[in-house]
Amino acid sequence: MRQIAIYGKGGIGKSTIASNLSAALHEQGHTVMQVGCDPKRDSTRILAGGKFIPAVLEEHREQLRVG
Ligand SMILES: Nc1ncnc2c1ncn2[C@@H]1O[C@H](COP(=O)(O)OP(=O)(O)OP(=O)(O)O)[C@@H](O)[C@H]1O
Ligand SMILES: [Mg+2]
Repeated sequence: MRQIAIYGKGGIGKSTIASNLSAALHEQGHTVMQVGCDPKRDSTRILAGGKFIPAVLEEHREQLRVG
């Protein structure tokens, strides 16, 4: 497994790079898991066709709430 970290100051293109990199690696036949630390969720939203997929911490909080 290869791990690629993308970080830097605000607005430099991290989300754009991350989503395009994931898409390009997938097109090359790789299995890709993109983990975002971005409350805006825009990098994964692009990949999900504009749909906001639930955030891990939101899901965890919901699981704790319902038991
Ligand atoms: N290579 C590029 N050339 C021109 N514009 C770009 C490029 N990469 C990103 N942008 C534009 O720059 C803006 C910021 O990009 P993006 O949201 O990917 O940055 P970010 O680093 O994820 O920002 P944030 O820190 O706010 O999450 C967007 O409008 C995006 O379309
Ligand atoms: Mg971003």
